[in-house]
Amino acid sequence: MVQDRPFGRIGGREVTEFTLANANGAEVRAVNYGGIITSITTPDRQGRLADIVLGFSALDEYIAGHPYFGAIIGRYANRIARGRMAIDGRIYQLPVNAGGHHLHGGRSGFDRAIWGVERLDSKGIVLTHVSGDGDQGYPGALQVRVTYRLTDTNELIVEYEAHTDRATHVNLTQHSYFNLAGEGGNVLAHQLHIDADAYTAVDAELIPTGEIAAVEGTRFDFRTAKPIGGAYDHNWVVNHYDGALRTVARVFEPLSGRMLSVATTEPGVQFYTGSFLDGTLIGKSGRPYVQHAGFCLETQHFPDTPNHANFPTTLLRPGERYHSRTMFAFGVSR
Ligand code: BGC
Repeated sequence: MVQDRPFGRIGGREVTEFTLANANGAEVRAVNYGGIITSITTPDRQGRLADIVLGFSALDEYIAGHPYFGAIIGRYANRIARGRMAIDGRIYQLPVNAGGHHLHGGRSGFDRAIWGVERLDSKGIVLTHVSGDGDQGYPGALQVRVTYRLTDTNELIVEYEAHTDRATHVNLTQHSYFNLAGEGGNVLAHQLHIDADAYTAVDAELIPTGEIAAVEGTRFDFRTAKPIGGAYDHNWVVNHYDGALRTVARVFEPLSGRMLSVATTEPGVQFYTGSFLDGTLIGKSGRPYVQHAGFCLETQHFPDTPNHANFPTTLLRPGERYHSRTMFAFGVSR
């Protein structure tokens, strides 16, 4: 087994970097600060290994602030308009941390928590976190488990589970930024396919209007693979949602031949192209992370669901089990 290693300390607590490795040379590293995936190493079509996610080599750089590189996002992925939500007739005011809105669980979301860790074996870990009643304004104590498992066929399986003791809204995701050519450079020439006929339209502040808009005839139509080409920060309504795992997106990087396919049990995927990166953050290999240095495919329920009765619900009640699964499959093609 590859040695786990100390990754630094925060508030007197040890952070460890865990390595999941299989016999093909693929490797996933993750730390128990924010459940952050710090690196994913996979072979290209010649068998050459490269790290294909953005991140840093030291804990201090993550603590200093970053746009959620590799982190687990919770309690609620993406935006809740003005931080307001109602549950059973009662209004909750969540902290606003992004242009007057609540983003990614608030100022101190799950991406900043120190998670408990249980080693399964050389290819798996379970991260655990308890978000207390009232944490970031949300009702109910939420017990969360996230499992990272690397398979022998180069798939990373992320499984989420949660229970609450009061009704609350939950929407968990993984915020890795991929660059299949190897981190550094930009992803605009990657070819993307998304199996979605529609997306959730947003206003100028990236808040859903409630409209489920057809992709037909728009730049949001990735039903036939095409180069990413520009900026996106939207939620696609993926086809055939019924809670079973199915492939919703595929990305191909022509020079390396690397492919990523994303399967999920979730109804949506936020495709974000790192538009807010501006070259000021320097990545683990010493190169600046410029605009579009990575893309995220954040499988999720739709943004701002608590305020839209026509979106699949994110409400979790006591006695119910939140369960969600996403699989990132890494491969190559000619
Ligand atoms: C959101 C972006 C946000 C980014 C933060 C994405 O999931 O959709 O709007 O700026 O996360 O890094």
